[in-house]
Order: sequence, then C-alpha cells, then structure tokens
Amino acid sequence: MSKIYVNKSPHLTGKVSCSGSKNAALPILAATILTKGKTTLYNIPCLSDTENMLYVLSELGGKCQRDNNAVYIDFTECKRHITPYESMSKFRGSFLLAAPLLARMGKARISMPGGCPIGLRPIDLHLKGFSALGADIKKGHGYVDLSCKKLVGNNIYLDFPSVGATENLIMAASLAEGETVIQNAAAEPEVCDLAEFLIKQGAKIDGAGSDTVRIYGTDSLTPCSYSIISDRIEAGTFMIAFAITSGKGEILNVNPHHLKPVSAKLSEMGAEIKENDNSIFIDATKTMTSSSIKTLPFPGFPTDMQAQFSSLMCETKGTGIIVETVFENRFLHIGELNRMGANIRIDGRSSVIEGGRKLTGADVTAFDLRGGAALVLAGLSAKGETRISGGHHILRGYENLCDKLSALGADIFMD
Ligand code: UD1
Repeated sequence: MSKIYVNKSPHLTGKVSCSGSKNAALPILAATILTKGKTTLYNIPCLSDTENMLYVLSELGGKCQRDNNAVYIDFTECKRHITPYESMSKFRGSFLLAAPLLARMGKARISMPGGCPIGLRPIDLHLKGFSALGADIKKGHGYVDLSCKKLVGNNIYLDFPSVGATENLIMAASLAEGETVIQNAAAEPEVCDLAEFLIKQGAKIDGAGSDTVRIYGTDSLTPCSYSIISDRIEAGTFMIAFAITSGKGEILNVNPHHLKPVSAKLSEMGAEIKENDNSIFIDATKTMTSSSIKTLPFPGFPTDMQAQFSSLMCETKGTGIIVETVFENRFLHIGELNRMGANIRIDGRSSVIEGGRKLTGADVTAFDLRGGAALVLAGLSAKGETRISGGHHILRGYENLCDKLSALGADIFMD
C-alpha cells in the first residue's frame, strides 16, 4: 500500500506535459479484441488500470507488448470468453470487455466490475442495450453471461447518458447486422476517441460527440495504428495545482476544448487562463474567490474534477457550493479535508465549503482516485506535512504524478 507525503509547497511554476487519457485508453484497449490482427496504440499511460486491462487481454489470448507508452496487441486469436474475477475486480473499466467479447465470440462471461466506491454503479443500461441488440442475458453470482447468434442493430434510448454503456454499445453495434441508433448517448471526448479509433479500423459511425450516435454494422474491422487523446482530468488537476499554490504555468499536450467547463470556472474564480492549440496557460497569482459548481455529463462540468475543486475552494475567498448529480457517493474526500482543518458540510448531494481556511497537514486516506488527487492538492497548500494512505487509488489514474509535481516545485514523494 503506497503512501504519499506532501509538504507545503511554494507557488508552482513551469511547464508540465499531460499523459494519455486513462478513460480513452481502457475502451480502446478492450476494442482491440474486435480485430483479428495486430493493433498499435500510442500514448497509452502506464497506470495500474491500463496494466490490469493488458493483463486481462493477454489472459483472453491477446499477445500484448508495451514499449513505454506504445502498446502492441495481436488478437489474431481470441481464446477465451471468460474474464477472471481477480483481475476484473480491480477496475471498473473492466466491464468494457463485455461488448468486444460478445461481438467476436458470440458469448461472454463477465465478472462484475470493481473500481471506486463512489456509488452503486449498476450496469443495467449496458444490459438493456445488449438485449436490444439481440443478446441473451443470464445473471450468475458475481458475473453475467451474455450470448447471441448474431447481434442485430436496433434503436436504443439510454435513460442516462452513461459513458461506459455508450462505449460498450458502439463497440457491439460496429459488428452487428444493420443500423443501430443510440439516443441520449454520452458525448464525452473519450467516447469520440473510441469512435475515431473504430472508424480508423473501418467501422461506420456518425454523430459521436452528440446525443445521437448512428452505427452501421460491418462484417469485420481491420487492425490499425492509433494515438489516443491526452488526459483532460490530469490536465484539470494540474490547473488546480497551480491555482491552489497561487502559481502560474503551462499545461502541455492538452486539448483546451475538452476542458471548457474547468477553464471557465477557474476564470470566473479569478485565474487568468490562456488557451493555445495544444496547451493551456494559467496564472493564479491574484486572489481567487469561491464559486458554485454542478457536475453534469459532457459538455457540463466533469464529475471527475469536483473533488479537486473542493480542495481549492477551502483556500479561496467566500463560500463555495458543489452539487454532485452524476454519482451518489462522491464526497468521500470531504471528511479527510475536514481533518486538515477544512469546514465543509454535506447536505444530500451538495457540499458547502467555507473558504479562506488555512489547512494543516494531517494523516489522511484516499478512498477513491479523484478524492485522493484532491488530498494531494490540499497537501500542497496545507501547513506542514500531509501523509496520504491509499496511494494505490491515485496510481490508477495519474502517471508519474509525484515526479511531475516535483518538477514544478512541489515537495512531494511516495514510498
Ligand atoms: C466513466 C469514467 C469515470 C467518470 C464517469 C462519468 C471510465 C473508465 N470511467 O465511468 O471516470 O466519472 O464516466 O463521467 O471511463 N449508470 C447506471 N446504469 C448503468 C451505467 C451507469 O445507472 O448501466 C449510472 C452510474 O451509476 C452513474 C451514472 O450513470 O450514476 C454515470 O455513470 P457512467 O457514465 O456509466 O460512468 P462510467 O462509464 O462507469
């Protein structure tokens, strides 16, 4: 169990480069099952989640090799349709294997996924979609069996624009017979990246990035080389690192369009933001004020950034309010921030954050990925040392976090 130590740090300055997106990498790695041949993927971050996915892919028959951030996967043969519980329970993204296995093998036994304890995280929308495409579904204890003779396109309305369900259904429909229309689809950049990857393999997909995605099924896909997008949540986390230390600097290798709600909120709070083609400059040296945030599906404010803003709004002037509408239990970091001297009240799905507090380092625990990142950020501005247990949660989503922050002047290390 790794522990992260953070000391009060000076104003962070300099340039930091973002890694590839974890949430784009996971579905695209899973989608390599759909093609009989060798796929090359670039910009795949080295994270425990991506390593777990590669491990499961090799257990299924994929020949996987990694060379830094390049990954080579040969799925000429897919030998198994059963995913092992031990690996699957480690990361939520594992359920993204359901569609590629079903489409390629005509059957899949998927262990129920693990991941962050931020809510119940049901899979009913995925299953509703698979059923509409003609799959039989049988639920066992801790797993679900899917089977079909041939998937057939259909109209699917999602009750909520679930990212994972949209991705699974786009993959399944790519090899189904005929046309599939997904309505109320998720429009996150990671969904678009998956669609771009599949299109490069020969899939016919229109409308990814809007609420209606049309997929015209094909018989087979051809392997390709593809470089995945950079991680907007990592970029947003660095923006808060600069802001919480009243620093300034540039985040490289990021698409500013993916971070509109985060940049808009930070500007409103008093930071100066400059967007370039492939980078974002932030100057947070002036006094910042708190704000109100409501998480929403893209292009709304990302739920994956709200914990980091909680830490920032402990320091900024005035009272901040965060309303979490996507997940029902995403305030696990609040109790830990209060241990550091924050004054945050939770009222149902809202948290009310008293600003202008001077936080003090303490022993705290990361219970989930983004909540853990919030504690690292709080540690950068808190007086003294913050010792964060549960560092493995943070390693699920940030490549070389300590090294990258150290290079900007932070006093941080992991053991
Ligand atoms: C993905 C991201 C995660 C991000 C989330 C929302 C990955 C690997 N993870 O998770 O970082 O926080 O999108 O942007 O890409 N829901 C149902 N039934 C379902 C599926 C989802 O009720 O079948 C609910 C969930 O419980 C949640 C909401 O829909 O309340 C959003 O979940 P979803 O968009 O599916 O998130 P993930 O794909 O799991």
